Amino acid sequence: MSELKHLLTLQDLSQQQILDILDLAKKIKADPKAYSQTLAGKSVVTLFEKPSLRTRVTFDIGVNRLGGHAVYLDQQNGAIGERESIKDYAKNLSRWCHAIVARVFSHKTLQELKQYASVPVVNSLCDLYHPCQALADFLTISENYDDLSKVKLAYVGDGNNVTHSLMLGGAILGMEVAAICPVGSSPDAQVVLKARELAAQNGGKIVVSDSLDALDGYDVVYGDTWVSMGDDTPLEQVKDRFIPYQINQSMLDKYGIQHILHCQPAHRELEITSEVMDGPHSLIFDQAENRLHAQNAVLVSLIK
Ligand code: CP
Ligand code: NVA
Repeated sequence: MSELKHLLTLQDLSQQQILDILDLAKKIKADPKAYSQTLAGKSVVTLFEKPSLRTRVTFDIGVNRLGGHAVYLDQQNGAIGERESIKDYAKNLSRWCHAIVARVFSHKTLQELKQYASVPVVNSLCDLYHPCQALADFLTISENYDDLSKVKLAYVGDGNNVTHSLMLGGAILGMEVAAICPVGSSPDAQVVLKARELAAQNGGKIVVSDSLDALDGYDVVYGDTWVSMGDDTPLEQVKDRFIPYQINQSMLDKYGIQHILHCQPAHRELEITSEVMDGPHSLIFDQAENRLHAQNAVLVSLIK
């Protein structure tokens, strides 16, 4: 596998590259002072077409903790590609900054940024993937389990960008990852195919089911919103279909689930109950903290 130049999707990374990022993230987390000047004199542009709390703040504070400088770009100047082409956007930004972090509606925008940028491009969420999130999730799991490849992780809810990155990354890490989603909300078939191919190469397993009984024997259950950003389906339209998939105490008890993750923002009493989110099995706020450490490991690995 060639040297890591961008992070658009975890499927571009080898198992060793993911493990190296997780290892570096643990080192940075344990000894932040040792990395406080690693990005001195470097600037990172973070550009957002969609709202964010965790991603925006963890990249900004994260770059600062590495001694660098983050510049936030929102859509006040119009959507990317409207006022000027994505190509020109990428070529201009590359003259000033050392990496571009982008949250966009379409994965194609990231591919175009990558094509024309001469600096690393990092996907901080698109319609198909959320690799920075999944790296923080694997970091959080690895803080609680000695061997990631032995962990059984079940995502429950709408098959989406987060599901895809968990399946692809989990497959590369040799994990068993299940996506348990209501009929009509399964993950993208092409992504499932790719994840199964990667799982076969790495000793992992990918399960896709609409049956909650598939949860039996899983260690970690993972939740996300039922309606993602950019999807204008009214909640009322999907609520009845999703409510049986709510992550609640009776689900934990019935299937013997040990740990709960949720990428947030969470919709309490919809996809997850407060009892579980604030309860002893929840790793959700460790997971939010780990966004910062995992992303800093990505930036340190990419910016030369
Ligand atoms: N999990 C996550 O990406 O959160 P934000 O949308 O707040 O950045
Ligand atoms: N699937 C969600 C994740 C939010 C962090 C979304 O895309 O809105």
